[in-house]
Amino acid sequence: MIKTMTTDKFEHKAQGWDSPVKIEMAGKFVREMLENFKPEKDFKVLDYGCGTGLAGIEVAPLVKSVVFLDSSRAMLDVLSEKLGSLSDIDSLSPDNSKVIHGDIFKYVTKDVDMVFSLMALHHIEDLESVFEHISRNILKPSGVLVIGDLTDEDGSFHGEEKVAHSGFNIPELARQLEQSDLEVETTYTYNTMKRGDKEYEQFILIARKAEKN
Ligand SMILES: C[S@@+](CC[C@H](N)C(=O)[O-])C[C@H]1O[C@@H](n2cnc3c(N)ncnc32)[C@H](O)[C@@H]1O
Repeated sequence: MIKTMTTDKFEHKAQGWDSPVKIEMAGKFVREMLENFKPEKDFKVLDYGCGTGLAGIEVAPLVKSVVFLDSSRAMLDVLSEKLGSLSDIDSLSPDNSKVIHGDIFKYVTKDVDMVFSLMALHHIEDLESVFEHISRNILKPSGVLVIGDLTDEDGSFHGEEKVAHSGFNIPELARQLEQSDLEVETTYTYNTMKRGDKEYEQFILIARKAEKN
């Protein structure tokens, strides 16, 4: 019998994830996203690679429902604790927040107005399949995908840790999105992070699914 081992790379990071730096990073991304694209009150949104939900929890009061999806059980445990303690807030009742553990491919719905993903895509290998799935099986026609992530870097951002992408080349990313009928409307660098003597840039990218497909 072949046994597959899945390791949760975030298991040891989850408890300390919500540091002031990470909270500030999520806040900055959400502010930038809202400046470019205002979700409607009746929107269903998906926070993909939500981690402990720092971005999704900020967006929740503005929309009808939030789906939090992540492959790390440990990160989602921290999120679930927070959702439990926030459950008296209308916008985060069990009716309008849902937590999904695992891979995005098991989530098929076609009724999501907006997917956003902060600092998660550089951990994910096969993004072409992910974009295809988001476009075909998750977003409504005219739905929007918002990405916040690192621009190309020299691989030092994660130190010794191996990740799928050392940031992104934006024209290349835009080409991949367009292959899945996700048309880039806006993209620019919105933040620069300093670590030691190095600087890393974060971009925001907003892409829209075609009206008909
Ligand atoms: C750097 S953290 C960012 C978390 C959160 N978005 C934030 O900004 O605080 C990356 C997250 O992506 C998740 N992740 C990595 N690969 C994934 C995959 N294939 N599917 C879903 N989530 C994934 C990790 O478990 C982790 O929680």
